[in-house]
Amino acid sequence: MAMANNSREDVSANAEWILVQEEIYRRISETHSFVRAVFSGRRRNHQPHFDRIDVRPVRIKDELKVQVEFRGSDGVITKNLFSNEFSELALLDSGFSHFLVENRAERLEVRLGKKGQLFRKLSRTNLEPEYEHDKKKKRFLEERDPYLIAVGISDSEGRIKPSMRDKYLQVEEFLKILETSMSAIAESQDPIRIIDLGCGHAYLTFAAFRFFQLKNRSVNFIGVDVKSKTRERNEEIAKGLGIASEISFVNSAIAEYPVLEVDVVIALHACDTATDDALSWAVKANAKVILAAPCCHHNLHQQIKEKPDALIQVFQHGILAVRQVDLLTDALRAAILEVVGFSADVFEFVSGDHTARNLMVRAICVSAESNAERRKADKLREYRHTCALWGIKPAMEERLELGGIPLSD
Ligand SMILES: C[S@@+](CC[C@H](N)C(=O)[O-])C[C@H]1O[C@@H](n2cnc3c(N)ncnc32)[C@H](O)[C@@H]1O
Repeated sequence: MAMANNSREDVSANAEWILVQEEIYRRISETHSFVRAVFSGRRRNHQPHFDRIDVRPVRIKDELKVQVEFRGSDGVITKNLFSNEFSELALLDSGFSHFLVENRAERLEVRLGKKGQLFRKLSRTNLEPEYEHDKKKKRFLEERDPYLIAVGISDSEGRIKPSMRDKYLQVEEFLKILETSMSAIAESQDPIRIIDLGCGHAYLTFAAFRFFQLKNRSVNFIGVDVKSKTRERNEEIAKGLGIASEISFVNSAIAEYPVLEVDVVIALHACDTATDDALSWAVKANAKVILAAPCCHHNLHQQIKEKPDALIQVFQHGILAVRQVDLLTDALRAAILEVVGFSADVFEFVSGDHTARNLMVRAICVSAESNAERRKADKLREYRHTCALWGIKPAMEERLELGGIPLSD
């Protein structure tokens, strides 16, 4: 966090805080790019009138104003104001400690510490303002959804916690992808068998469960993670939600978890070759849909000794070399999935603002299609050619038989 320290007990008189306040008001007044602001928390020795203030732009009779929601013990009061009227309320000095302001391109987070220190962080975003008066954007899961509250993305009053905003956006993006990937299993009315390999704190597991529940589709869900603590936590949450008979959590390494027949496999940010374990597990489990977001690609980096001449300039720069090999890793994962009878695509999962490792590999089983065998043979030939060029054997290939053709050495 970029930070400026200052030892004064009361920041209200501090020149830096005054500048930051001006910046916050300026960002809110730029109504064409302003997306939302949240003022929350309590500054030491202060007692704000409200628990939280939410601000967003709103179009009323062709004029852009800011809609301010004051939330407190007496409920919610909403006012629509011009931005100069908003700044005249001097809400920044009314005792809050946390300030978040987002516009189309940037997120500004400001925190006033116990001793009056001012912490300021600026990061990139890619957001769109929503101007419709009282019209909420359609979400897969509303902020107050009991599942979001149970997993800790929303607070007990049903509002997304500022620190969990990115996770919520990730959940929404993931559910969008899940929805568009389900045609392969749409026909069947049987319970959907779904497994999350490397589920961690199961934010996406519970979100996917809820997604199907809201569509009245019954599911048998398993979450697998090598960490036993996550299992205990997730089981408690499932119990609290009354779904312990439909979702279970297992403490196991992916590679050691016995293969079952399943319909859908998800594996999001399972580290390094754990993604290869998950993809291979999914292939052996005859999954119809696989959604994997790889991360931490070390495997091929360790293998590549000779770089192809055509990429000599790329390998002169560390960051470009890393990205090149990351891309190669995921491209070859997708290629193997094609070799074994899936149609695979790779696309951006969430915005790349916080990490370059934001790709999703999606695979839909197409091995029943008429030209499947020919297509698989073509893909295998291409795959072998690329591996020979780089002198590599991807971790996923180690875990699978690629159609009985000799493995590359
Ligand atoms: C970065 S977290 C991602 C959690 C969750 N999928 C998400 O996207 O929010 C990665 C998780 O994968 C688990 N993991 C890593 N390698 C694993 C393996 N080989 N077998 C099982 N779990 C693994 C870790 O314990 C961790 O909980």
